[in-house]
Amino acid sequence: MQDTPASDLAALKAEIADAIAAAEDERALEVVRVAALGKKGSISARLKGLGAMSPEERKAAGQALNQLRDDVAEALEARRTALAETALEARLASETVDVTLPVRPERTGTVHPVTQVWQEIIAIFGDMGFSLAEGPHIESDWYNFGALNIPPEHPARQEHDTFYFNPRPGSDERLVLRTHTSPVQIRTMENTKPPIRIVAPGRTFRSDSDQTHTPMFHQLEALVIDETTHLGHLKGTVEAFVKTFFEVDDLKMRFRPSHFPFTEPSMEVDIGCSWEGGELKIGVGDDWLEILGSGMVHPNVIRAGGLDPDRYQGFAFGMGIDRIAMLKYGIPDLRAFFEADLRWLRHYGFSALAMPTLAEGLSL
Ligand code: PHE
Repeated sequence: MQDTPASDLAALKAEIADAIAAAEDERALEVVRVAALGKKGSISARLKGLGAMSPEERKAAGQALNQLRDDVAEALEARRTALAETALEARLASETVDVTLPVRPERTGTVHPVTQVWQEIIAIFGDMGFSLAEGPHIESDWYNFGALNIPPEHPARQEHDTFYFNPRPGSDERLVLRTHTSPVQIRTMENTKPPIRIVAPGRTFRSDSDQTHTPMFHQLEALVIDETTHLGHLKGTVEAFVKTFFEVDDLKMRFRPSHFPFTEPSMEVDIGCSWEGGELKIGVGDDWLEILGSGMVHPNVIRAGGLDPDRYQGFAFGMGIDRIAMLKYGIPDLRAFFEADLRWLRHYGFSALAMPTLAEGLSL
């Protein structure tokens, strides 16, 4: 084994330092490390040679070699850090996204009118202090009918054109696709301590199809339950909503006596409109358009929701989201809503980048 004079070590150190500086990436640097400090590396070989030396020689050469090994390790580590930083900077630079670039018009998707109106409704009721609630699409007979004061033989069941599931084996209970969002009234009362103030938008299903009916459609349920809410609050809430939604200050409204098993008294709400020239205008004219069903929640329904009707009272209303979307945006055929025709979506769709808010405007 050669001895290791100081000049030899200095040359080796300079040689390794050059190799470290020349390494252009972490992989090249690893090659340098193995050549110097690896099992068969230049420094390791010299350290092994120490065994053949006399004790004095070994002491001096050992110190120098250990020092060299530490210096090289340190230089390798410094270079590795520097290379990693450079690599990261290069990567960040190559992955930069210029968020100020304009959206490519041909790539812009649009928001479906139902989604748009859904968001508008939530913005309005959220501002009035309502929370969001929801319930399942598949309901039991109890939630869809029984708890809503519609017993098995009630004629209202026929009117709902219900989609029934086959009974489960060993049972005669048939689940249904919910025919309205009113079951959410019951589910909310069951798990909320009054005061209750919720809106529940969602899908509903009836076996019906023509220009204004599709087997799947959307409804919005509203429910307010506390100890003092009365019919005046119902009228005020509906009026505030309708004016904000249709973006008109002066709107004629009519509360017409009606009947629903789950409300007493019940009223349907019409808004003033005109059909002049075949075009529908909201807020002017002498015609009427029905937009929702409403009433004071029936004591039996409050009881079915697990609350005491002698203590609690309130109102509920339900309206068709697709229907008010058609009215507000002048869309003639409901079936087109669900045909996924791109030309239709481009024509009636809304900007994907503008969320409806009361402050910025509902329909930009
Ligand atoms: N559920 C009724 C319907 O689908 C609407 C409604 C809801 C009426 C709440 C009164 C109260 O026609």
